[in-house]
Amino acid sequence: MKEYLEFAQELAYKAGSIMKEYFYKEKQTEYKSDKTPVTIADKMINDYVIEQVKKKYPTHSVDGEEAKNINNSKYVWVCDPIDGTSMFTRGVPVSVFSLALVYEGVPIVGVVYDPFLNDMYTAIKDSGAYCNDKPIKVSDKEYGELGCSIDYCMWNNAKFDTLEIAKDIRKDVKLCQVGSTAHASMLVAKGTICAEIFPGTSHGHCDMAASKLIVTEAGGKVTDFYGNDQRYDQAINGAILTNNKVHDKLLSKIKKYL
Ligand code: IPD
Repeated sequence: MKEYLEFAQELAYKAGSIMKEYFYKEKQTEYKSDKTPVTIADKMINDYVIEQVKKKYPTHSVDGEEAKNINNSKYVWVCDPIDGTSMFTRGVPVSVFSLALVYEGVPIVGVVYDPFLNDMYTAIKDSGAYCNDKPIKVSDKEYGELGCSIDYCMWNNAKFDTLEIAKDIRKDVKLCQVGSTAHASMLVAKGTICAEIFPGTSHGHCDMAASKLIVTEAGGKVTDFYGNDQRYDQAINGAILTNNKVHDKLLSKIKKYL
């Protein structure tokens, strides 16, 4: 497992250098069919991951948000080359690289890398979560307690209307929007905020795989909006990543709007 993690970290550092290079350059932004942006940097990073996995683990698959290389393997490298592309195109440095090694649908190694702060979040299944090699833990705040803040993602064509959910939740807790669901999830993992609410996207399942492992390994809880296991290989019914303590309360709030 350690070998897989080291490989994932190498890819993350390279991805981060591409992200930083293009942050100040012409990004050649295009729009996908679901009207979300994709830049030349997203594509370059995704292609780089495919090329490197092909070299090192030729039998493994890669499922990337912008490109895939699917083999008949139980091992899949699940990659969101730039999570937070919208903010990236706007010159706001919150985007991260996300990569997980998933075995039969379950993430076993995960990295999320923030190249702007040089923060490398990592986890191996059953071995804890780390930021820059230091152990991290979720917060112990309760729902509604001062200092309990929650990030939520919201957009027009999402399967769930998180705006209505947000209006309800903001009565009790402080809401914020980070601009990258994986980055917000890392704030949950290290205890800065109590939860991340992500309604899922129509363009695939790649955003959540690494975050799910890292948040869980930091002592948090991850489910879909119905309280079921949130799995990379199944349809996304929203995702809630929490410090565990606020999970049930949050679920009961969300369920009213499903
Ligand atoms: C997006 C970000 C954003 C969330 C969007 C995602 P992408 O990922 O995570 O925070 O609100 O739903 O699509 O498209 O930049 O990889």
